[in-house]
Amino acid sequence: MSTDTLARIASKQEAVDAPPLMTARDVHVYYGKKHALKGVSIDITRENVTAFIGPSGCGKSTFLRCFNRMNDTVDGARVTGRIELEGEDIYAPEMDVVQLRARVGMVFQKPNPFPKSIYENIAYGPRIHGLAASPQDMDEIVTTSLMRAGLWEEVKDRLQDSGTALSGGQQQRLCIARAIAVDPEVILMDEPCSALDPIATAKVEELIDELRGRYAIVIVTHNMQQAARVSQKTAFFHLGDLVEYDDTSVIFTNPKESRTRDYITGRYG
Ligand SMILES: Nc1ncnc2c1ncn2[C@@H]1O[C@H](COP(=O)(O)OP(=O)(O)OP(=O)(O)O)[C@@H](O)[C@H]1O
Ligand SMILES: [Mg+2]
Repeated sequence: MSTDTLARIASKQEAVDAPPLMTARDVHVYYGKKHALKGVSIDITRENVTAFIGPSGCGKSTFLRCFNRMNDTVDGARVTGRIELEGEDIYAPEMDVVQLRARVGMVFQKPNPFPKSIYENIAYGPRIHGLAASPQDMDEIVTTSLMRAGLWEEVKDRLQDSGTALSGGQQQRLCIARAIAVDPEVILMDEPCSALDPIATAKVEELIDELRGRYAIVIVTHNMQQAARVSQKTAFFHLGDLVEYDDTSVIFTNPKESRTRDYITGRYG
């Protein structure tokens, strides 16, 4: 796709001026001696979808994982700086990480439903977190989550079938429904469409647009058309630096940094 086409798509994105839901300040990540993320600061809002773009190995996934402390599970990873969710330090010792990951959900590159029924895939989280007072409540949560994830019509007559029997695109929407079921504030998505065909990708992109405003959404993508289509804010990373963070329309039409311009014009990949 030409840079002009990208610019035309991105120029339709209107970022909303909104208060931050999450803030990151001077965040560094080290894997042993490797300095993978170098002093990154950013604000995440509910009203805008934020895209993280940049060449392979620049630190997109590393930074994304900071927002729900998924780096805690990576051997040798060390995070410094400050990340807040609604003003609360998420790295504070008293922070309950299980609660945090319900409030800041994650969807991965490869759809990873549990080898259980569609119903159970959704009900599992709410049950652990005690969100349903009765079986009727649970039915309601499952139905609403599947509706919000745009999957209800396709699965309402087969809720007892295995989640793994769905198509790849359906599985990914099931994983989004599963994240939604525990009533999150933020949904982090790491290349959620890279294993999907173009039709399934389009459905997930539509879904992201519908979910905007209800949840803060951060999406890592290698696909610049996708960033231009779904996001209102774009952060460009290179070698562990946040090079530029601005409205998507600005990043794709009039970036300030030459490294950003080189990347979006395909000069390096
Ligand atoms: N568990 C780890 N141990 C050591 N180094 C790591 C680990 N995970 C990532 N890295 C390194 O940190 C840097 C950033 O990696 P990261 O996975 O965040 O990049 P990325 O931008 O998501 O790349 P990609 O687009 O390929 O997914 C890379 O140099 C990578 O090799
Ligand atoms: Mg990655």
